[in-house]
Amino acid sequence: MAQPLHHYVLPLLLLALSFKATSTSTHNSHGLKSLHFTLYQQEAINKTVYLIVKGVTGPDVSPSASPFGSLFVNQDLLTISPNSSSKVVGVAEGVAITSSLDGLTNIVMEKITLELKHYKGSVSVLGTAHNIEVFDLPVVGGTGDFMFVQGYIKPSLVTFENPNIVYKIEFHLYWPSYVANHFSHSDRSSTLNGV
Ligand SMILES: *[C@@H]1O[C@H](CO)[C@@H](O)[C@H](O)[C@H]1NC(C)=O
Ligand SMILES: *[C@@H]1O[C@H](CO)[C@@H](O)[C@H](O)[C@H]1NC(C)=O
Repeated sequence: MAQPLHHYVLPLLLLALSFKATSTSTHNSHGLKSLHFTLYQQEAINKTVYLIVKGVTGPDVSPSASPFGSLFVNQDLLTISPNSSSKVVGVAEGVAITSSLDGLTNIVMEKITLELKHYKGSVSVLGTAHNIEVFDLPVVGGTGDFMFVQGYIKPSLVTFENPNIVYKIEFHLYWPSYVANHFSHSDRSSTLNGV
């Protein structure tokens, strides 16, 4: 039976891989602080992601579409390279609900807990993912070192070797200036190699 790739399917995107996780952090002259890095989400069908409820109408569950109302839940590890044996620095817990009748889009809610070298906490993501087109998911907030954070994540498919799926997740995080000034992170270098 064909399997759903649930919320991050991007069959058209087999992007050039960056095997070295790097992050950059900057303060601009207005005090806006930002952090940019890439991680890899390791997902396994029926192990870290499940179809909990099959939707009511529309296409059958397939790699690119699922019935309207289908509910998927995942708890995936985030690693620093596409290799699932590489260092784990985060966990993504999420829900995706098929929200268009053609079965191509899903409402996605995700809490991503991160333990990076200089930043610990979580970011929350809420948005709509399209199964074929490129999309960004807005970051709506965070906890710990990511308190008040804004920005977006950009997921793309790296490999799908049933049942294992690897997504590349680009993080683009921005702190409002009133929060950036509050942080006493002046000891942090402007470029961090290795998350
Ligand atoms: C993944 O990492 C493990 C452990 O470091 C290594 O043995 C394995 O060869 C790697 N796999 C690939 C496909 O690079
Ligand atoms: C996952 O579980 C469903 C329901 O038991 C089953 O139909 C499907 O074949 C399984 N898929 C994989 C890849 O294990």
